[in-house]
Amino acid sequence: MSRSAHPAGPRHADVLPEGHYTAPPADLNVLDPKVWSRTVTRDAQGALTVGGIEVARLAEEFGTPAYFMDEADFRARCRAWREAFGTEADVFYAGKAFLSRAVVKWLYEEGLNLDVCSGGELATALSAGMPAERIAFHGNNKSEAEIERAVEAGVGRIVLDSFQEIVRVAHIAQRLGKVQPVLIRVTVGVEAHTHEFIATAHEDQKFGIALAGGQAAEAVRRALKLDGLELLGIHSHIGSQIFDMAGFEVSARRVVQLLAAIRDEHGVELPEIDLGGGLGIAYTSEDDPREPHEIAKALSEIVTRECESARLRSPRISVEPGRAIVGPTAFTLYRVGTVKHLEGLRTYVSVDGGMSDNIRTALYDAEYSVALVSRSSTAEPMLSRVVGKHCESGDIVVKDAFLPADLAPGDLIAVPATGAYCRSMASNYNHALRPPVVAVNDGEARVIIRRETEEDLLALDVG
Ligand code: LLP
Repeated sequence: MSRSAHPAGPRHADVLPEGHYTAPPADLNVLDPKVWSRTVTRDAQGALTVGGIEVARLAEEFGTPAYFMDEADFRARCRAWREAFGTEADVFYAGKAFLSRAVVKWLYEEGLNLDVCSGGELATALSAGMPAERIAFHGNNKSEAEIERAVEAGVGRIVLDSFQEIVRVAHIAQRLGKVQPVLIRVTVGVEAHTHEFIATAHEDQKFGIALAGGQAAEAVRRALKLDGLELLGIHSHIGSQIFDMAGFEVSARRVVQLLAAIRDEHGVELPEIDLGGGLGIAYTSEDDPREPHEIAKALSEIVTRECESARLRSPRISVEPGRAIVGPTAFTLYRVGTVKHLEGLRTYVSVDGGMSDNIRTALYDAEYSVALVSRSSTAEPMLSRVVGKHCESGDIVVKDAFLPADLAPGDLIAVPATGAYCRSMASNYNHALRPPVVAVNDGEARVIIRRETEEDLLALDVG
């Protein structure tokens, strides 16, 4: 996740601090389309517009900080994934990246399925009308109540994550007089090249059942024997923010090999494999993500090849992108409060949000871009650290980025690519009020998640 330190120099050139940054772009007013959502442009005065609406208007109407989501971009990304995988595969959007009822409706309309991993996500999906059979339910420790709710609702897949859960789901399904379609999540032993906390297919972690040592084969044996379960296939998710397809190839190969072993032992060809999500997006100009059609092609080629060599019928493939769909579709809009130049060190730009609306920088050392969006500027680039208003020095939104040196209190700045894992991981730290999510489309803006109020906070505090 890091860029190389670059000694070239804008303001403070003689005393550039340690950090990960490249040389400033030639023109700070130019927005890199890689990191901004599709309908973002700058108007003649240099103000950013999204969905045809200027940010100053959005700030005035909805306040800051706020997340603005480009609905046309979200829908276009859904369609790109759908079309890339065609009718022979299923795309499950991973709701943990960001979920709201409006999003569920968009997914439904664009032909995607939905992955949930908690009772709350399941409730949101069902309440927005997603048909239960298009929902898959994940999690390493689903409660009995959650499993019951999912089975009762008739979710299309429950992804079994442990030996205990195999029995638990089977019992609940039997008690409810149902046969629950399930997948077994396996850990394939791939070391994904990403942050340790978001890598999930190496063996020493909490998810899934290891292929190694015959554990997964044993789980299949047990699941096939239980009346309450219909074992449809095998699931693998290797991690998140991954650019290199090699890990997916190894994972697909190992999963297909397990299908072949199951066929040899039980005479059953399981009809499905789910290869998870985890595809990386561009947070900065340094990142080069793959397009859905390249990903679809690479995955289907490897599965076809492996199946041919094992003389297996090709299973139906599912994928579960979260970040790759929603991540690039939103930016967070902040208002600058203070600008502090620490001579010989760095410039701190404080905004009206922070780690409560974007924990990813503090938690994963994530990198983001940032731009002045309320006006253009011809001032020289100033290496800046964008920080929040929380009582913690690790409260950093963007570690190292260039902003114009005339940046001043009252300016609006925006951090792109915050659609995934920002609002969904937001907190009330310091009793911050979580920002709204506003969908912008074709000249119209509407709140899809409203801003929290002090009344909301006090309503939870029962005294
Ligand atoms: N499928 C499964 C089983 C998952 O566990 C995940 C993510 C996904 C799909 C979607 O992954 P995506 O395509 O969005 O990378 N909070 C972290 C990411 C945690 C991902 C957890 N599982 C972050 O902010 O980077």
